[in-house]
Amino acid sequence: MKRFPGRALLAAMLLLLGLPAGAASLPDVPGHAVASAHPLATRAGLKVLERGGNAFDAAVAVTAALAVVEPYGSGLGGGGFYLLHRAGDGKDFFVDARETAPGAATGDMYLDRDGKPVPSLSRDGPLAAGIPGTPAALEHITQLFGRNSLAENLAPAVRLATEGFPVDAKLAARIAASAHRFSEAAEAVFLPDGGLPVAGDRLVQNDLGGTLMTIAEHGSEGFYRGELAERLQGGVFRDGGIWSLADLARYRVKEREPVRIDYRGYRITTAPLPSAGGITLAQIFGMLDALKWPSGDDTAARHELVEAMRRAYRDRAVYLGDSDFVDVPVGRLMSQEYANTLAAGIGRMATPSETMEIAGLQENRAKGENTTHFSIIDDDGNRVAATLSINTWFGSGYMPAETGVILNNEMDDFATAPLVPNAYGLVHTEANAVQPHKRPLSSMTPTFVDGPRGVFITGTPGGSRIITMVLLSVLAHTNGLNVEQAVAAPRFHHQFLPDRISFEPEALTAEQRTKLRARGHELEPSSRRFGNMQAIHWDTRRNRLEAASDPRGIGDAKVVRPRSSP
Ligand code: GLY
Repeated sequence: MKRFPGRALLAAMLLLLGLPAGAASLPDVPGHAVASAHPLATRAGLKVLERGGNAFDAAVAVTAALAVVEPYGSGLGGGGFYLLHRAGDGKDFFVDARETAPGAATGDMYLDRDGKPVPSLSRDGPLAAGIPGTPAALEHITQLFGRNSLAENLAPAVRLATEGFPVDAKLAARIAASAHRFSEAAEAVFLPDGGLPVAGDRLVQNDLGGTLMTIAEHGSEGFYRGELAERLQGGVFRDGGIWSLADLARYRVKEREPVRIDYRGYRITTAPLPSAGGITLAQIFGMLDALKWPSGDDTAARHELVEAMRRAYRDRAVYLGDSDFVDVPVGRLMSQEYANTLAAGIGRMATPSETMEIAGLQENRAKGENTTHFSIIDDDGNRVAATLSINTWFGSGYMPAETGVILNNEMDDFATAPLVPNAYGLVHTEANAVQPHKRPLSSMTPTFVDGPRGVFITGTPGGSRIITMVLLSVLAHTNGLNVEQAVAAPRFHHQFLPDRISFEPEALTAEQRTKLRARGHELEPSSRRFGNMQAIHWDTRRNRLEAASDPRGIGDAKVVRPRSSP
């Protein structure tokens, strides 16, 4: 049963009211598409779409399938953000399923007796885990936006968990790199015969299948209350964590107003706090407008982009945190007036970050390839961009016994101590300090772009670099690149500190490197390519649908066109 007016009905209603048809004037979508980081998750999403589910049902199916087949990137023990567009009424929704700090969390819980930070405490083991949000999101999205039952949406993941699936080379490598951090239950799952699995081995996860079936039967209550909650909390508590049953029982997703940015005829809809993504993007686009970017050759264009990134990431460090707990001057940070002021400080030479009014910062390094993103559009034009995470690969490495659920280490995204870099080299201040029930600041930035080229749905994992990768993909789209080019384009990044441009080797020519150095930039080629973008482009002018999965990963993007179309 359809719960919302279809586009034709909406158009008729708007016409009767004498209002412009807006979204209703778009052509019919020429099919549907799913792009995700794993072929089996893409297949799960397509199956749900082809059996009558909508994009929101498919998002639930893809989320759950990724928890099984890409367990190092996201899962039931983590959280994330879903950006939804409901075609029936043209509304956008942002579902914040970010983890929360346990009620017993304190600002100094990751310091030793001498007040020194102990990074392993916020990265390894159950003390590093926030209260997961993904199980609540599965139910919330199915109930409020989907057509299917939760059980129907979780069925493909249950099968993948209980029947098993072939380990791919990436999963085998991630298990090998993380095995030393695994708790006993995690070892039993991922090293089933005591040794490392190799590509092609079958991985069965019966406990995870059982947890998924419990959620399918009892909804999110089945996870946050009762026997399963007791197993999760009991394990965490026994092994040094601080979760209480009340922390699990009180977890709720939050619907928030997405950030909207207008840039040269394009409307960018993206992530609000507790993601830093939207505000940071708004600041960068504001500076680009102020600079009439690009104001010179390729090198000048890159220099200006880097200087805009530097300034926005500096403000991220100083001002951003969970706005339910701290006052963030969002209006001022996103205003064009403020962007003009920041842009006025951008000259021909690089501005050393150490001269930018934030003292005592430590050296740090950008990294991060964890997390996951997927994009979906259905035949009605409903869309989803979702970025989900358990933070670093396999999160905390901790799995409470008999749950099959790897817990996140998202507590490391807080300022575990002021100005001390987290796993991504990001520094934070008081705004992002640990507080009970607060959500840690994130970089996850699921994004829609609407404009003269139609609809672009984008996002990527990649820690602190997520925001600049999304920025580059939006610029690629607005500059006319097709979706495959936008996803494949070489990447560069600056995050205020460390004060250097990290870049994929193909991103800067030898000449550009020389010229950027002459402008005072330090350059650091990245040893590995970064990101794993999953994007969809619905070109409404030619009415064509295209999707692309990042060539850096093993994902799969599939477009299914209506039978009648060529
Ligand atoms: N845990 C990565 C992020 O949320 O930015």
